[in-house]
Amino acid sequence: MLPGDGIGQEISCEAEKIFQWLEDNTELNFQIDKCSVGGKSIDEYNEPITTKVLSLAFESDAILLGAVGGPKWESLPFHKRPERGLLKIRKELDLFANFRPATVFNSLKNSSSLKENLISDLNLMIIRELTGGIYFGEPRGIEKLPNGEKKGFNTLVYTTDQIRRIAIIAFEVAMKRSKKLCSVDKANVLESTELWREILVETSVDFPQVKLSHMYVDNASMQLVRYPKQFDVIVTTNMFGDILSDCASMLTGSLGMLPSASLGEYDEITKNRRAMYEPVHGSAPDIAGKNIANPLAMIQSLGMMLEYSFNKVNLNNLLKKTISKILDLGFRTADIANESDKVLSTSDMGEAILDELKNSKNEKI
Ligand code: IPM
Ligand code: MG
Repeated sequence: MLPGDGIGQEISCEAEKIFQWLEDNTELNFQIDKCSVGGKSIDEYNEPITTKVLSLAFESDAILLGAVGGPKWESLPFHKRPERGLLKIRKELDLFANFRPATVFNSLKNSSSLKENLISDLNLMIIRELTGGIYFGEPRGIEKLPNGEKKGFNTLVYTTDQIRRIAIIAFEVAMKRSKKLCSVDKANVLESTELWREILVETSVDFPQVKLSHMYVDNASMQLVRYPKQFDVIVTTNMFGDILSDCASMLTGSLGMLPSASLGEYDEITKNRRAMYEPVHGSAPDIAGKNIANPLAMIQSLGMMLEYSFNKVNLNNLLKKTISKILDLGFRTADIANESDKVLSTSDMGEAILDELKNSKNEKI
């Protein structure tokens, strides 16, 4: 468990309550190591992640991360910033497949900035490539030019293997859902994504039942707010996925609601994938420490962990159902509240979920 910075700490406390409930009420037992990452690790150890924490992450069945970053560390040199801690875990554990579902809870359909009919029952899955592309491409840096000017540069690079493995995952997910996959690229301008498109088409041969479409990223961002229900599964590059997933999250009413899972290659020995779960939102320094953040993205990330890493789909469903029920009762954190709602603090929202879970105890878990 890596709570990280800002509201990461508060929402992690609520996740811990859920772990405790799971230990008390299911056959699951967790051995949880709570460690520092991001700004907290910088304060304590002068680096955004220590080798000790990284090796613990390697040994763990799953990682639950809160959020990293904040203004306190923004002026540090690039390689020392909190975000490097997170990116290092993604890269070193090779967590290349990032799942970002955007689903609308029925009782929140009027919290979105979009009209209700556009988003009711929306349920889309953005699959973001997470360890390649411009985030990690070399060369990169800021250099001084002879004329005294400076030059900042990054490289957008994808190899066929990198594209193929995320494409396969996306097709597999599409097969389990509506068999519709939209690949988002900028193939009209960027060669690396022209290759992306080529490999997607090539991979589609093995999944003849999936209807593959392609969209340029500028159009996709427009279509997401025009008529989001045209999409089911979207697969895209690291940076496009970063941008589109923030956009998609707002369709659901709040960035505070969206969980994510980042998975590695399937390991034949452990019969599992390395995995990290984290809310899509950031550390929200402006509201940190006030006990007002929304813990539901974190709790849903825990739910994804139960399903993806521990094969407990029913427990993830139970958590989703519980959250839905609490929202139906009008309980809200400030970010999703309307005038008539009961506004809860972070910890009270955690308690409300827990109470509801206790009520469901008599049902079969
Ligand atoms: C995300 C975040 C990260 C990213 C940051 C914190 C490095 O925005 O997970 O979407 O850009 O990937
Ligand atoms: Mg982001």
